[in-house]
Amino acid sequence: MTRVFSGVKPTGHLTLGNYLGAMRRWAEVDQHQADALFCVVDLHALTVDHDPARVRRLSRQAATLLLAAGLDPQLCTVFVQSHVDEHARLSYLLECVATDGEMRRMIQYKEKAAREQQRGGSVRLSLLTYPALMAADILAYDTDEVPVGEDQTQHVELARDLAVRFNHRYGHTFVVPRATAPKVAARVMNLQHPTSKMGKSDDSGPGIVYLLDEPDVVRKKVMRAVTDSGQEVVYDRQGRPGVANLLEILAACEGGDPEQLSGAYETYGALKKDTAEAVVELLRPVQERHRELCADPAYVEGVLRAGAEKARKMARPTVDAAYRAIGLLPA
Ligand code: AMP
Ligand code: TRP
Repeated sequence: MTRVFSGVKPTGHLTLGNYLGAMRRWAEVDQHQADALFCVVDLHALTVDHDPARVRRLSRQAATLLLAAGLDPQLCTVFVQSHVDEHARLSYLLECVATDGEMRRMIQYKEKAAREQQRGGSVRLSLLTYPALMAADILAYDTDEVPVGEDQTQHVELARDLAVRFNHRYGHTFVVPRATAPKVAARVMNLQHPTSKMGKSDDSGPGIVYLLDEPDVVRKKVMRAVTDSGQEVVYDRQGRPGVANLLEILAACEGGDPEQLSGAYETYGALKKDTAEAVVELLRPVQERHRELCADPAYVEGVLRAGAEKARKMARPTVDAAYRAIGLLPA
């Protein structure tokens, strides 16, 4: 059976981008068709300035939202990264296989490091080494497929490279994984800045639809989305990024095709109205379930505890094998 692994970082409230780019497929497809693990990758949230209480709160919230989005602990494994030591254990070995140059080439590192420096802050070393930890997340579980949004494909490629290199140098140890992206909405853009990704830790609140936004807030954000000059509704990601983003969101909500949908609209206003309603309807069941789950935190905690136990058992043999292969004495 195909093994699937993916994760979400508790650095902010989860967004429509997280849902359409990743979580929805985890719930609708992956957990039914594969042996799947989904992880709240809390160690990754420590790579940038953080507040401990906030990370704790967001980790709980992310886990609750994964279940609210439809992940079923009977079908898949849901857990928190820091509960399974194997991730950090393997990460160090992968740092010994990766090079400084390939880490520095990561687009996300370059962008985030530049932003930190602009603010006059310092860049944590863990921001640079983060892809080694992400590779460890993936490789520890003999993962075949990593369902992620487009922004993560470079990191998954690096995980592939590290797996191949390790296997070549030290003998076959890791399954070589591949990234899978959704057909539409693999990169949901910020509604106010449609040439930038809708990222949960960005400062631009009005351009980001959060999964827990009230319906009226969602409507307001979508109706105020920046559209392009011109009148016609055409699907052109380069030339008309604002309209293309709305068409992709609507197509993803309805299971349609953005190009085809564009023909059905005469005005930007009508497109915005339908998109807003489609997003409200998409989020409604997730929000309802989230409310129910919040009333039962012990249930969520139980799921995470059982998930970590299962995950630990799966990761241990592969990580132990890597320790032996690389030349470390068995304990
Ligand atoms: P992160 O929020 O960075 O932890 O991302 C969790 C998952 O959501 C990853 O698979 C990302 O690729 C995906 N994701 C995050 N933001 C977006 C977006 N704006 N569009 C599509 N996918 C996204
Ligand atoms: N780096 C990913 C992100 O920012 C989150 C992540 C960490 C992840 N480890 C992973 C995703 C392993 C897939 C597989 O979105």
